Amino acid sequence: MRKSRRQQLYRIDRFREYYKELFSHSGLGQIAKFTQHGTTSRLLHSVAVAYYSYRLALFTRLQFHLDDLVRGALLHDYFLYDAEDGDPAHKGHWTRHPSIAAENAGSEVQLTRIEEDIIRKHMFPLTLQPPRYREGVVVSMIDKACSVYEFFKRREPYGQIRREVLREELEGSLKAFYLKLPAGES
Ligand SMILES: [Fe+2]
Ligand SMILES: [Fe+2]
Repeated sequence: MRKSRRQQLYRIDRFREYYKELFSHSGLGQIAKFTQHGTTSRLLHSVAVAYYSYRLALFTRLQFHLDDLVRGALLHDYFLYDAEDGDPAHKGHWTRHPSIAAENAGSEVQLTRIEEDIIRKHMFPLTLQPPRYREGVVVSMIDKACSVYEFFKRREPYGQIRREVLREELEGSLKAFYLKLPAGES
């Protein structure tokens, strides 16, 4: 096996460990049933943001708190409602949901200051304060890139993540979400 492929598999295994550990200690799996940007599950969106933030952090070779970066990214959209359901209670969603996510996450797991900052500032510049740590800068940038990707890529987004990170979830919690999509958009 070529070295780069071996390194890539090692990174995916490490990422899966972070992800599995957080999911076993929180209710974050509930976001699998909500839609994000058209036809993406919020769970797939959050895992994608965490995964590509992790990859970018490794690529830079700078010092990162990788566990905080991955956990903060996984939790950044931890809110349990449909953002586009027209409910007046969800008015101001784009600026309010980071605080809601931070409160949901903080009620279930002990957040580090970096994790909390990632969650609360990920919508910068909509939320006026910029991220305080480089982990938050990376997550905020990747979140925007993923959102644009999801908007345009409506059919089978994130093939690698679905194959290599979320195999079990696609048979479990994510299966119901993708089964209810119109044909051709899964
Ligand atoms: Fe968000
Ligand atoms: Fe997001």
